[in-house]
Amino acid sequence: LSEQEKSALDAYEWSSKLFHHVLRFTAEGKNGLNYLENRGFKQGDIEQFQLGYSPNKDQFLSTFLHKKGFQLTNLLDVGLLSSRDGNTFFDRFKGRVIFPIQNHQGKVVGFGGRAIEDGVEPKYLNSPDSKLFQKGKLLYNFYEARKHFQKEKEVVLFEGYADVIKASQAGVYNSVATLGTSLTKYQASLLKRYVNRVVICFDGDKAGKDASHRAAQMLKDVELDVLVANVPYQLDPDDFIDTYGPEKFQNQVLRNAESYIAFALNYLKKDYNLQSKHDQLDYIEKALDLIATVDHAVERDVYIKELEETFDLYRETLENEIADRRRINQ
Ligand code: CTP
Ligand code: MN
Ligand code: MN
Ligand code: MN
Ligand code: MN
Repeated sequence: LSEQEKSALDAYEWSSKLFHHVLRFTAEGKNGLNYLENRGFKQGDIEQFQLGYSPNKDQFLSTFLHKKGFQLTNLLDVGLLSSRDGNTFFDRFKGRVIFPIQNHQGKVVGFGGRAIEDGVEPKYLNSPDSKLFQKGKLLYNFYEARKHFQKEKEVVLFEGYADVIKASQAGVYNSVATLGTSLTKYQASLLKRYVNRVVICFDGDKAGKDASHRAAQMLKDVELDVLVANVPYQLDPDDFIDTYGPEKFQNQVLRNAESYIAFALNYLKKDYNLQSKHDQLDYIEKALDLIATVDHAVERDVYIKELEETFDLYRETLENEIADRRRINQ
């Protein structure tokens, strides 16, 4: 690392500590603390994830860092401060709740800053990509989650910071989240080094389903087992835990996660008008391709049976089609 990067790392560490202190112990942090408490975050969550608050002042952080002796110009590129003229420096995250993001060595390298009032855009302001902070390479909470990968060889993948934190209320510690971008091949390969199975637990809306399918393919490509949890429509894991509690999250959402194939067979239906014979055939072709990739005969059987019943087909035809595909795939 260059001197400038080392200094930026140091500044993130100080800023993170300052914002955490502000949130917990000061009048300036009251709005942030109220916001988090109203959303069901607990004192333990705030500690464990070192949540903070950047006071709604233009130069709270910049003054602090200046006094600490930091070269403020060095902190523009990493997104801690902003400046119009290059001489005066402003707090970039002001008025936001701070989710510190650690790199995989446990060092704070970025912030996710959550607006605490409705309608403020963007809802999350994140640190920009830099040499220290690459959203396509990092996963939120990876440094902590890694300690829990051994036991189950499994990770739960979420969309958001709030989901990871709320899941910890349900005792789910082997969890990570992407940083507001799609899962990358790099991240999939990284997980492959530590676990055998990934449970995708994205939001229950259309965007979440689309992202689940994309992530699942990425994870299948590196030969991970993939399960997809069923988060009810219009909720995300964080809302679900607030509404129904951590036990139901375990028992109804995570435990009922379905296999990638079961998810995909259902998900792909949206591309077809299944009232039309022509579309039905296209869908069935696609479904057969998917089912043919399953190595367990019993599991294949379950999906074949479903196709047989849904479309009133001959089982033997389906079995032959799958056998052909499996021969070709070999
Ligand atoms: N995100 C972002 N910028 C935004 C919106 C979202 O970077 N303007 C990222 C954040 O990392 C966020 C994730 O995408 O955690 C998921 O987005 P969303 O589901 O909208 O946010 P939640 O995590 O549900 O946020 P909250 O519960 O605080 O509303
Ligand atoms: Mn503390
Ligand atoms: Mn979402
Ligand atoms: Mn969400
Ligand atoms: Mn949420």
